[in-house]
Amino acid sequence: MTFDSQSSAEPWWQRAVIYQIYPRSFRDSNGDGIGDLAGIVEQSDYLSEMLGVDAVWLSPFYPSPMADFGYDVANYTDVDPIFGDLATFDELVAQAHRRGIHVIIDWIPNHTSDQHPWFQASRLSRDNPKRDWYIWADAKPDGSLPNNWLSVFGGPAWTWDQRTEQYYLHTFLDRQPDLNWSNPDVQAAMFDTLRFWLERGVDGFRIDVAHHIMKDPELRDNPPNPHPGFLLHKAFGEYDSQVHLYDKAHPEVHRVFRELRRLLDSYSVERPRVAVAEIHEFDLSLWASYYGAHLDELHMPFNFGLLRAPWTAQGVRAVVDGLEAAVPAGAWPNYVVGNHDEPRIATRIGPARARIAMMLLLTLRGTPTLYYGDELGMRDVPIPPEQVQDPWEQNVPGLGLGRDPQRTPMQWNGNPHAGFCPPDVTPWLPVAADYELVNVVAERDDQRSMLSLTRQLLRLRRISQALTAGAYHPVDGVPNTCFVYLRQWDSQRVLVALNFSGEQQMLHLSEPAHGSVAISTHLDREGPVDLTDFSLRGHEGCLIELAE
Ligand code: NOJ
Ligand code: CA
Repeated sequence: MTFDSQSSAEPWWQRAVIYQIYPRSFRDSNGDGIGDLAGIVEQSDYLSEMLGVDAVWLSPFYPSPMADFGYDVANYTDVDPIFGDLATFDELVAQAHRRGIHVIIDWIPNHTSDQHPWFQASRLSRDNPKRDWYIWADAKPDGSLPNNWLSVFGGPAWTWDQRTEQYYLHTFLDRQPDLNWSNPDVQAAMFDTLRFWLERGVDGFRIDVAHHIMKDPELRDNPPNPHPGFLLHKAFGEYDSQVHLYDKAHPEVHRVFRELRRLLDSYSVERPRVAVAEIHEFDLSLWASYYGAHLDELHMPFNFGLLRAPWTAQGVRAVVDGLEAAVPAGAWPNYVVGNHDEPRIATRIGPARARIAMMLLLTLRGTPTLYYGDELGMRDVPIPPEQVQDPWEQNVPGLGLGRDPQRTPMQWNGNPHAGFCPPDVTPWLPVAADYELVNVVAERDDQRSMLSLTRQLLRLRRISQALTAGAYHPVDGVPNTCFVYLRQWDSQRVLVALNFSGEQQMLHLSEPAHGSVAISTHLDREGPVDLTDFSLRGHEGCLIELAE
């Protein structure tokens, strides 16, 4: 292929592919069955040489009682001993930077652990200086809950604290009390934690449930959900019975994001730092508002549209076209097909269609996030009830909300436990039964594997200005089971043709009429093709370079 490598003016995070690592599950370096930072350092070459990703996002590694596996932080400026220490973190950053890989870390502003010293102080007495750092409320006169807010993880969002006889708010577990961001001291302390990591060299933050940090100051009841069915991208059980009007996304959140952006910008003079934020908002104009009215808030609110799209050519195209229309001028899109909270893509849509999803993810306009193991086609691992770890599954069993299946150990090789940990150690979650076939070593040596496909797509993306920065133009007049689009930069044009059906489909394009297949998802053809009469096999996607 004759793609040109071009230098560019875009910041690194616009050209980057972000690879999400769930540290507990990536690589266990010291034989306790739990992945750790030194394990990630050991695999630095995998990230750079084998994959060639530009950035890693590390899920939390802070000291934590692990009630929500690190999303319950007891200290924002250290490393949990299970994962290593600050020196290992520094080494991780140094090894990544040496290889041109940026490091994005998870930052959890909405809540702390109940073991955080701030909460420990806050719950001591009503007049403790830290009391107002969390959200406390009296019972109603009849002794009932302050309002009807619900925890995402099941049950009410309020827990009674006997000692001071008030309720505290927790959007997630009762062991994850919500911080009170309307208190300027909370903001100052939390911004200090950002400075701590920026000064240690991190390149950005993935902000956990970012829009949840500001709530209605009057704590009004949420209205009932008038529509049956779910509100976000999947059914959340009882949580779907209300419209979450007052328990998140109060407009004040934009002020906080603007101030956070100013903080990041002050460090970006040296080199660009990025804010990527978890925002589950499917009203696209509301979603787009998180870029900021003057593009002065978040660099990228995560776009979760593909998590809820019906997996058809039309369904996926509607998400992409909708997003392209919604992204404000000058702002940058992004795409997500999986993460540590969602069933894996290869399980959701099946292995053949997961190859189409990989081509889609790596050829759309915008920064892709790739979840560890998806490059191998890893699938969800069924977890027997007695081995369940995820508190969400424990709280509301049987609804399919548990997230252990997508967090199982990375499959490195055909050795016991897939090489994740030593043979005589039990990994914290079971390894997939198919690990002898689905693993890095086996797939590296198989020229048609999912790993080979991912590596080649990553390579093509890296060297193509059209794929990284070019415009997106959907192509009409194709079978309705196909999604076809052009990516164009200057005179450089690439056509992506994806067949979402299991049957052969014919394309009859007149403009462009000719091109050359750079890669097929089947990894078995390349070279010139006549697009006026072009056949795509079942579940085949092709990336076609067009003559300039
Ligand atoms: C979203 C995170 O991705 C999820 O894993 C976590 O449980 C909740 N936020 C609470 O922090
Ligand atoms: Ca370990």
